[in-house]
Parts: sequence; C-alpha cells; structure tokens
Amino acid sequence: MSSPTQDILFDMVIFGGTGDLAMRKLLPALFLRHQAGALHPEGRIVATGRNGYEPGQFLAWVDSQVAGFIPAAHRDTPAWRSFLQRLHYVDLDVREPGAFGALKALLAGETARVRVFYLATAPDLFGDICENLDEAELITERARVVLEKPLGHDLASSRVINDRVARHFAESRIYRIDHYLGKETVQNLLVLRFGNALFESLWNEKHIDHIQITVAESIGVESRAGFYDQAGALRDMVQNHLLQLLCFVAMEPPASLDADAVRDEKLKVLRSLKPLSAADVAAQVVRGQYAAGAIAGAAVPAYRDEPGVAEGSATETFVALKAEIANWRWGKTPFYLRTGKRLARRSSEIVVQLKAVPHSLFGTELAPNRLVIHIQPEEDIRLQLCGKKPGSGVNVRDVELNLTACGAEPMPDAYERLLVDAIVGRSTLFMRRDELEAAWCWVEPILAAWQSGRPEPYLAGSWGPLAADLLLARDGRLWHGDAL
Ligand code: BG6
Repeated sequence: MSSPTQDILFDMVIFGGTGDLAMRKLLPALFLRHQAGALHPEGRIVATGRNGYEPGQFLAWVDSQVAGFIPAAHRDTPAWRSFLQRLHYVDLDVREPGAFGALKALLAGETARVRVFYLATAPDLFGDICENLDEAELITERARVVLEKPLGHDLASSRVINDRVARHFAESRIYRIDHYLGKETVQNLLVLRFGNALFESLWNEKHIDHIQITVAESIGVESRAGFYDQAGALRDMVQNHLLQLLCFVAMEPPASLDADAVRDEKLKVLRSLKPLSAADVAAQVVRGQYAAGAIAGAAVPAYRDEPGVAEGSATETFVALKAEIANWRWGKTPFYLRTGKRLARRSSEIVVQLKAVPHSLFGTELAPNRLVIHIQPEEDIRLQLCGKKPGSGVNVRDVELNLTACGAEPMPDAYERLLVDAIVGRSTLFMRRDELEAAWCWVEPILAAWQSGRPEPYLAGSWGPLAADLLLARDGRLWHGDAL
C-alpha cells in the first residue's frame, strides 16, 4: 500500500492509549505502517492513560500486551525498536481540565503538525475530552478527532455526544470510525460494482432475488462483558457494521469518491430503509443469546455464565433480520442480515443471489447464480455459475469464478488503512453524523420492542436460534451454505 503519509508530519494522541483497542488494533496497525516505511520518521504517537506509568514502564506494558498481536519475530527487529521510539506516554485524567498540562507541554511548538486525537475511551468521555483539549488550546488548524464506536446507546444519547464534540470540531474534522469500511473486500465491492458494466446492469430488484449479509464470530464476549452486556449485538454490530455493509451494497453510484459524495449515497439508503413497526419487529427480527455448547470441540459456557455478565441478563448475542429498502432499485429485494457471537465459525460474507432462470432446458433444476463476497477470514469474491459437465450429453454442474484481484498480496488490516486515512485527511471511509443518526433511527423501534421479552437461546457452536432459519424459510429461502 503506497501512501503519502511518509511526507506528513503528525502527532497522534490516543486517549485510552493503554487499553484493549490500542494494544490489539491501533498500535499493531501503526507498527505495520511504520515497518513499511509509510509514516513520517518524526511522527509521534502519544498514549494517554491513568496508570501512573513512567515512560519505561509504559513501553514494557506495550511490549507485553501486543505480544499476541505482533509476532515475536517482528518485535525482535530494529523496526520494532525504532517504533518504540515514536511512543510517548502522558498520564492524565481526561475529566480534569487542569490535567492536560503535560500533554500541552509535549505538543508545544508543534502546531504545524497534523494532530490526530483518537478517542478510544468510553464515549461518555468524548465531550469532556474535546472540551479540555479546546480549553488547553490544543485544537490547532490541522487537528482532527477520530471517534470510536459505539457513539451512544440510542439516537438521543448519540446526539448528545455529537453535539458536545461539534462545539469544538467542525464536522469535516470529525472521523467516526467503522473498521468494517477499512476492510479490503468492502472497498473491492465498490470497484466491482462501479468498475464493471456486467454487475451494475444486473444490480437491482429485476435480477437480484435477495441479499444476505452475515458477520459470524466464534468468539464469545471475552473480557468485554462490562461493555457488551449493556450494548448487545444490535448496538455493537448491526447499527454500525452491518448497516454500513448494506449501504455499500445498495447505494447508487456516487458522483465521485469524495467523502461527501459517497456519504450522501449511503445516507439515502439508510433513509430509504422501510421503518419497522412493533409487529414487523416481532415478525422479522430474531434475537438470540448463546447457551453453553462447544466450539471446535471445546466446551464453552453460556453467555449468562460468562464473568461480568449480569445474572439473568436478557442481552442479545445474536440478531437476524429482514430489511427492506423502499426505493426503485430495491423495492422487491429483501436484505437478510445476521450476526452473532459463539457461532459455529468465524465467517463474514455478503451473498448476492440472482433470480433463477425462468426455465431450465437441462432436465434439472438449476442453482441460482450467486456473487459471494467473503470478508473474513478469507478475503475473496466468487461468482457461482452453471457450467457444462465435460463429456457427452449436456449435463450441468456448478462452477465458480474467483474474482479476487489481490492474489497472494498481503491485505492491509482495516485499522492500518483507516489510521493512515485519518493522518492524511481522507474521510470517505468514516461516517458522517447524519448517517449515524439515520442508522440509530432505523434500529430504535427494535430497541423499543426489546424492552420486554427475552432472547431465544441457541447452542454455542451452532448457527443461532431456529427462528433465524425460519425467517428465511418463510420466504422460501435458505441462509447461504458457505457459512454452514
Ligand atoms: C467490534 C465489536 O466493533 O467488531 C466486537 O465491538 C466484534 O464485538 C468486532 O468482535 C468484530 O470485528 P472483526 O474485524 O474481528 O470482525
């Protein structure tokens, strides 16, 4: 990935810089960009936290925490040692206005640098952080702020956060991150759609029977019960990642790849989602929670028995739903979305299923053509077609074209791309406020309906509750077999 970032002198300040996200994703991604020579040699990364570390202690903490995410072979290198020299640690309590002095001293005199403030703390701290940055006069002409999800727990709370941030940063300087948009295949989808007459001419309800978007995880709640038990899968995954994927699949061709041109089109999709009544939620939204089971042969506990989960918790760890887009392109094509933790395996994919041929000449029912976009763990795009079996007679079989453009080239991690974009100032892959609010508006009736009742249990290691299969079966459809 060639990048102009090596010319851009920057300071990236990570609030929540000793936390889980920083260690799992942000520092490893920055290291990989550093190792590739893509960062300005004098660019600095400043982690803030409340651990009271001395600089040496902080570096030792980083070394121990990133061990699972950066292989030892990469850390025992000059590149890793020079990367550590970029790192600084500032101890501060973000709620304390007077506490920003040490940060100010570190950044002093560097106003020409791009300043990226990356807020990886709990979102209810975002307002205080921005206010205190402003008070300490740290918001320079070249400053921007990256906001991690979840931005609020409903429309009203997201508005409160956005209003507070907006007092200190113009919308064009606010980068709301959704790391799914940084994934290579998601961007490849744009090129596939808008770079090939073949697909775009078929990309509508006349030719497409339905679309499935699955984001399945085999991991459970891990050590994040404190956050997850309050959030659940709808807020954690559907409101952001799955709806963003849906936007990329469903949007009209944008006028250009400029941030606002793309975001205008995504917004139109979100605003065209058919609102769900309470009866619709009951009929077309499934919520589940994993019960004890086994993943790859190893027994795992029920969600309710995970450490940190409230007794009798009704938080959903699985959602499947049918969404409809009320516009000319998609009027009759449903979108089925599903996501869950502790499912049989990790597999994220978008399946675009074309309509069956109106009549088969070959004495057998033909499988419909499908475009299958694997997002992870493999990243590839395959077109499933019908072909002839070699030999005499005209017998048919399924054939598959692999459309993956990248071959064996390593794909950059989503955070690598997005952190670079934040430094360079490219905001196309970040969410605008109106998009975020439109997504909250659409999920709110589901949140309201789920005030009562309980999620349906499903076995850990399965594909979710039976109701998710029935959701499609009622429409005469099946979840795509690749995920099974
Ligand atoms: C995060 C969610 O946004 O995405 C997590 O908070 C989830 O619960 C993660 O595990 C999945 O991301 P990825 O890139 O591993 O699919």
